[in-house]
Amino acid sequence: MAEDCARLLEPLTLGPMTLPNRIVSTAHQTNLVVDHLPTDDFIAYHEARARGGTGMIVLEAAAVHRSGLLTSKTLAAYLPDSERALRRVAEATRPHGTRLLVQLFHGGREQIAVPPRAPVLAPSAIPSPRFRVEPRALDGHEIEQLIDGYAAGARTAENAGLDGVEISAAHSYLIASFFDPAINRRRDEWSDPCALLERIIAAVRQAAPRLAVGLRISADAPHSAAIAQAAGDSLDYLHGTLGDASTLRGAVGIVPPPPITYRSVLEAARGLARTVPLILTGRFTEPHVADEAIRAGHADAVGMTRALITDPELPRKLRENRADEVLRCIGCNACIAHYHDGTGIACTQNPRTGRERRMPRRRDGATRRIAIVGAGPAGLAAAAEAIAAGDSVVLFEQEDSVGGQTRLYRDAPGQRELGATLARNYDRVLASERLDLRLGCRADAHAVAGVRPDLVLLACGALPFAPELDQAGLELSQAWDVLAGARPSGRVVVADWGGDPSGLDSAEVLASEGADLVLAVASYGVGEGLHHYRRAHYLDRLYSAGVEIRHHLRLTGASRGEVHFANTFARGVATVIPADHLVLAQGRVPAPVPEPAWGDMPVRRVGDCETPRSLEEAILEGTRAVLEVA
Ligand SMILES: Cc1cc2nc3c(=O)[nH]c(=O)nc-3n(C[C@H](O)[C@H](O)[C@H](O)COP(=O)(O)O)c2cc1C
Ligand code: SF4
Repeated sequence: MAEDCARLLEPLTLGPMTLPNRIVSTAHQTNLVVDHLPTDDFIAYHEARARGGTGMIVLEAAAVHRSGLLTSKTLAAYLPDSERALRRVAEATRPHGTRLLVQLFHGGREQIAVPPRAPVLAPSAIPSPRFRVEPRALDGHEIEQLIDGYAAGARTAENAGLDGVEISAAHSYLIASFFDPAINRRRDEWSDPCALLERIIAAVRQAAPRLAVGLRISADAPHSAAIAQAAGDSLDYLHGTLGDASTLRGAVGIVPPPPITYRSVLEAARGLARTVPLILTGRFTEPHVADEAIRAGHADAVGMTRALITDPELPRKLRENRADEVLRCIGCNACIAHYHDGTGIACTQNPRTGRERRMPRRRDGATRRIAIVGAGPAGLAAAAEAIAAGDSVVLFEQEDSVGGQTRLYRDAPGQRELGATLARNYDRVLASERLDLRLGCRADAHAVAGVRPDLVLLACGALPFAPELDQAGLELSQAWDVLAGARPSGRVVVADWGGDPSGLDSAEVLASEGADLVLAVASYGVGEGLHHYRRAHYLDRLYSAGVEIRHHLRLTGASRGEVHFANTFARGVATVIPADHLVLAQGRVPAPVPEPAWGDMPVRRVGDCETPRSLEEAILEGTRAVLEVA
């Protein structure tokens, strides 16, 4: 495997700096920021990625002016304390050989702020749909101030000992928006889209002559070639990614979920002129795929951001010929969901992400025997943690395969890759000599006690909720049945409560097979339990597949040939939809756990059998239970 990644592990010179390898952690907001400055958790987070061998880290968007703050947790390069704070990050990462940059940023029209919102400044006063922002046009003096802000930010980075800065002209943020004729309606000197970019690059170069300077663009934007051309060879590298922060659908590309693959960014970047080295980013999760992109000449280096959020040791594992130990990103987008929720970065697959200072591995040398009931994500995560700590595990699973609910993801386009990658991440655990996996084994308290465990973890998962319904004469299944292979016939109504995605998944699977289908959703909108990039992509796929989506319909019952709904909001407003079959997606309930005849054994419930929630909680609780029980 190391040979497959040989190109990825080669050094690369970008202007004044040489990267030890071509694996890049691109700018990503961590929310490990207080008063617009990095915290100790922020430093520990990046130090872990530097220690793991990342070739280049671009620190998250740092605003060059207070009008450019995306949220209350955006770094502010313009603050006097910023230099000292960035120096601490540089001191922590430099010993590991990583090159450290910071992204210089102004959001322009895009602002994810909570009230009271700061004034929003843009090329012209054109409202922006995604965050429902209504900006004011910048005056000429303010534009000069912003250019000074980029220069000051670069000077700060240089004084702090960083290796470079990356200017964001991506995602429809300020610089990109000057290139968009629908947003830049100016009639002054700044109507020339290149004017601002050229002035910023020149100011940054002058302010920080020792630094590498890169430019980030959205390769799929209509004006990407124009931006790249305007920057030309004044840069040390160009960085192509995807996405447009100003629209609900365009934003999906910023952190693209499966089934979008790395091929999207390769395709989008095809037409870019290559006057300087090119970094490409967007769903490079497999090291050998990233290596192949470099080998084939598509890019000189590759952003593997979520891959490194998941496994900060990825580069080191490749170097040490341990590629099979890499924990793979599953593309669930919980990391970006944390960002939009205002909470510190976290990763579904790696509970230590964002908790680098708070979740050490157990190294007490004690070996225990742990019985785990249920081989879904919570049980597998607990087994992985226990085996890594030297414990032995007996894992009971009543089905004939592991994975729990993720086994239902097999046919669902939005989940297939996620489920398969998650399963792959546990291959090594399942192969461990310290694991005794008992498939097809229903574990009652007697069977569990028989293995004489020091700790019992109940990870029995969830079941679909079956509401008490008057459904006379209408066939009915659960969304889970559809995902497991059942195929209703005739006109199908999927009644979706709007939370977990099983309703959307079953609708998508049925629609792909030509079913006559209505998706009736009870909540404000479709897929509210999903991060909105995934939700928007589900909507794209469902509408493209011709699914009829009807909103604000709360299931009340069914009778022969029809399904009955009440309006979610308006009392007394009822709807009847003709149907031959009703598919239920009405939430989940905890699965029953074995009777508590445990004697004095410590017992913990983890994951969905405690309360059904997401994969993130299941894996976190499974891991923590092993760490916390003495
Ligand atoms: C939590 C999070 C925050 C992000 N914040 C930024 C940012 O500050 N600036 C930026 O240009 N891109 C940002 N991105 C996008 C990433 O730089 C990257 O392009 C994206 O994750 C896709 O690459 P990947 O598939 O390798 O993860 C963010 C991504 C994530 C997951
Ligand atoms: S939270 Fe999900 S998408 Fe984000 S890095 Fe972890 S596994 Fe990947």
